[in-house]
Amino acid sequence: MKKLLAMALALAMTLSLAACGGGGGGAASSGGGAASSGAASSGAASSGAASSGAASSGAASTGGSSASSGDLIHVGFAQVGHESDWRTASTKSAQEVFSAENGYELSFVDADNDSAKQLEAVRNFIQQGMDYIIIDPIVETGWDAVLTECEEAGIPVIVIDRTITDSDKYDAWVGSDFKVEGLACGEWLKAYAAAKGITEINALVIEGSTGAGATIGRTDGFKEIADREGWTILDSQTGDFTEAGGQEVMESYCQSYKGQFNVVICQNDNEAKGAMTAMDTAGVSYGVDGDVIIVSFDANKPYVQMVCDGKLNANFECNPLAAPTVDEIIKTLESGGTPETEIYVTESWFAAEDNVPSITVNGQEQPVVHVTQDVVDARPY
Ligand code: AHR
Repeated sequence: MKKLLAMALALAMTLSLAACGGGGGGAASSGGGAASSGAASSGAASSGAASSGAASSGAASTGGSSASSGDLIHVGFAQVGHESDWRTASTKSAQEVFSAENGYELSFVDADNDSAKQLEAVRNFIQQGMDYIIIDPIVETGWDAVLTECEEAGIPVIVIDRTITDSDKYDAWVGSDFKVEGLACGEWLKAYAAAKGITEINALVIEGSTGAGATIGRTDGFKEIADREGWTILDSQTGDFTEAGGQEVMESYCQSYKGQFNVVICQNDNEAKGAMTAMDTAGVSYGVDGDVIIVSFDANKPYVQMVCDGKLNANFECNPLAAPTVDEIIKTLESGGTPETEIYVTESWFAAEDNVPSITVNGQEQPVVHVTQDVVDARPY
């Protein structure tokens, strides 16, 4: 009954917004949160000209020349920021998919890793009467109030990539299982160490941004295996998913833990690059021929090349191409259907050597891809 009333209110709000010229076509929010497990999506970006290029901070930028056309579906996207190569791939994919050529007008806000700015962007999207709002949440919490406002305005919300844990007032989520990524990293390290005859693991972790779903999942997953195997995690500090952050943390680790560590876990590619710079300066060797095993997450093409070149021992993919799946969700809502509420993107694990052919996580065996130049060349981002 409560849900029926909410739906009726949402419908009324949608109609009143449409009457005020707020853009038509948006289906009323179903209001349900993540629930069922979804089919994996391969996430290849659809074609279409990219809109307005590089992300700017703060104010929304719109792409597409026919922005005033009432036929376009108006989508507001509150992006995390521009902290990493992964983020650039995510933004580019969204700008390609939500183009005027594909029937969309995209209002894009780069929140510059500032949660207050991201909440403000969502509230502005409500004011502007968007048909749909896409959020990649910087942090997992603090969302219920603004999502309630979206629901009351009758605007469907689709969450991508990172998770929201303090509210279920969104229509669908598309992203990665970050804990599985962390578990996969741990299981691969266990098998790799066994293959190499390494009996002791002393690891340093460079975490992502504090409070982000990606950081929490990867940290928890890796720690679960470390605890089970009796490994030592010497330290775990945030590098904020940036190259500068990774370098800074690793510089301090190289001083504090000189000669004590044999594994560095970087929670994204940019941090790994920064960590390599710090280890180069400190005279610490890493990678396939080095003293320190270094692994990363994301698997952007230049960093899969680093795996191929033996500079990174392994890389655990985080697929940034959620936008094509969001496009499908919007099309389902537009035609009056009900989309799946929780959809996982497909992800692969990459290694420089072929001594760990597969790993099993949560009872599911998955191959570890031995990276050759052909594998690098086939990377979509
Ligand atoms: O939320 C996804 C993470 O955020 C990616 O691993 C990282 O590169 C990005 O900044």
